[in-house]
Amino acid sequence: MTGSGISAESGVPTFRDAQTGLWANYRAEELATPQAFTDNPRLVWDWYCWRRELIHRAQPNAGHRALVTLAELKPELALITQNVDGLHQRAGNSNVVEFHGNIERDKCFACNRIPTGTPDTTERPPECETCGGLLRPDVVWFGEAIPTAALETAFRATDSCEVFLSVGTSALVYPAAGLAEAAASQGATIVEINTNSTPLTSVADYVLQGSAAYWLPAIAASVQTLTTH
Ligand code: OAD
Repeated sequence: MTGSGISAESGVPTFRDAQTGLWANYRAEELATPQAFTDNPRLVWDWYCWRRELIHRAQPNAGHRALVTLAELKPELALITQNVDGLHQRAGNSNVVEFHGNIERDKCFACNRIPTGTPDTTERPPECETCGGLLRPDVVWFGEAIPTAALETAFRATDSCEVFLSVGTSALVYPAAGLAEAAASQGATIVEINTNSTPLTSVADYVLQGSAAYWLPAIAASVQTLTTH
């Protein structure tokens, strides 16, 4: 399970970092809600456009690449991410479980339809071709349900895993944070990689304090050595 900390070294700000520039007066938690979009759709749309631009400029880092190596060495690995930035897929992981959606897709706030192409308009946000509702990014906002397929796949993998790696997440947001707890309660070994401590730290069997871009390549190299010898 990864969180925004794994993309920090790619230049994508984490969710709970203080925002900078135009957005310094807002907290991410206040913009990522249905209520914020209802109150001020343009503000929320523009914030996501800014995040999309940052993501387009970003490249996967050594942490993302190490997870590609791990998936090759251990095809049974399930990669669940809370990130909406698509950097795991760009690094080369397939079958990524997108727990919180993907910022590249839009959907209609009113009818939930996903538009077929990029809307040819300068409206911010654009309107849905089908119902005239407003388009929003296809990400999970506070108070919204996790996509059913992602939720089921994530809990199925967690319920049968031997080792659960929690990477670069503050472990504050549920139900995502509940995955590590579910893994611990069925006896899995819990490994946390984080630059700081989190509510999971006291539960984890191993705490690797430091960056994902440092620890994940080290783990991948160890697994490679064990697999090939
Ligand atoms: P947070 O911003 O809450 O936490 C980022 C975590 O990454 C923190 O615990 C940092 O200590 C850690 N961190 C920072 N840099 C790191 C690095 N280089 N290597 C390892 N760890 C590092 O982000 P998330 O936990 O991803 O959901 O947030 C979870 C969810 O909260 C997001 O998916 C988003 C938000 O609500 C929705 O929008 C539904």
